[in-house]
Amino acid sequence: MLFFEIDSDISVAETLPAEAYRSQSLHEQLIERVLAPSWQWFGSASLLSEVGQAIPWSFLPGSVQEPLLLTRDTQEHLHCLSNTCTHRGSILLDQPCQGRFLRCPYHNRSFELNGKFRAMPGFEDVKNFPTERDSLPRVPFENWQGFLFAALQPSLKFADWIAPIQERLGWVPWKEFQFSQERSRDYLLKANWMLYVDNYLEGFHIPYVHPALAQVLDADTYEVMPLPWGVLQIGFASDPAVPVFDFPSFHPDAGQRVAAYYFWLFPNLMLNLYPWGLSVNIILPQAVDQTLVRYQTFLWKPEFLGQGAGADPGLVEQEDQQIIARVQAGIQSRLYHRGRYSPSQETGVHHFHRLLAQVLHA
Ligand code: FES
Ligand SMILES: [Fe+2]
Repeated sequence: MLFFEIDSDISVAETLPAEAYRSQSLHEQLIERVLAPSWQWFGSASLLSEVGQAIPWSFLPGSVQEPLLLTRDTQEHLHCLSNTCTHRGSILLDQPCQGRFLRCPYHNRSFELNGKFRAMPGFEDVKNFPTERDSLPRVPFENWQGFLFAALQPSLKFADWIAPIQERLGWVPWKEFQFSQERSRDYLLKANWMLYVDNYLEGFHIPYVHPALAQVLDADTYEVMPLPWGVLQIGFASDPAVPVFDFPSFHPDAGQRVAAYYFWLFPNLMLNLYPWGLSVNIILPQAVDQTLVRYQTFLWKPEFLGQGAGADPGLVEQEDQQIIARVQAGIQSRLYHRGRYSPSQETGVHHFHRLLAQVLHA
């Protein structure tokens, strides 16, 4: 495996080597060691608002691609289960359905909505059957403020991972947010997924790459805060016309003119909160040089749409993707190896690279 060190002292550290973004074998290591054990965003629990609903869901489509399904059972409990039949391995569901139980289309084995084996023809003479292994495996699964997350074999405790958002933004009425299909879409990007994350983790490029966004955010007060397993960036409004959050009086940011919170949670989730609502970027590696960016929008106060830091997320996304494509081309160079970090501007990128090195070389 490619070995790289990222010095803990940013003033002497060198960035991730270009080879890390090109190496097929490192890409596979990252899938196994960084992505497969991570917590992944499913979406709003309102997708499963009715008893008997079951939704198939691929965990990290394009890389880990574990077939899962989410259900709401007759007692109103939510479950995240394997979507692979315990008989000979057929996929159970390929589209959402609603009913009293789950049925395999191959030989008619059926399961309760909580995954428990229910019935199967032709198995009357089978000894020691059914056992626990004939039920669908359950996957660790969490409901945070009405948003659902799952992990196959989590290396982190969910509560620790989500804590910084809960602490700072627990006051936001998340359960009132409404998913907006028309403002949600997927982008396929011809670049390594870590370049997308790197770019997200600094506001350094805003004045150069995002001229319109630079008008509404104050470059001097832009904050980047490394968290144990993430990075928080806070954008403050540059002028009084920019919409800002209306904080409860007890909030640590009360009195400040915050225009946007940008939370990145290791390794591939970005939650961008604006006065109008939430945009979520889920970064899905497809290949060493290809990334799917899944963009989901949830509205809170739509009267603020089109204004301030979140005025035109589509434009900002396009500007980011163009610059990321340039970096993807540049890191193919035989003359470029690795760079250095700005200690005042690139603590977020440095932190991401440190976390990668820590997990890969543990
Ligand atoms: S594979 Fe599902 S019943 Fe045979
Ligand atoms: Fe950007």
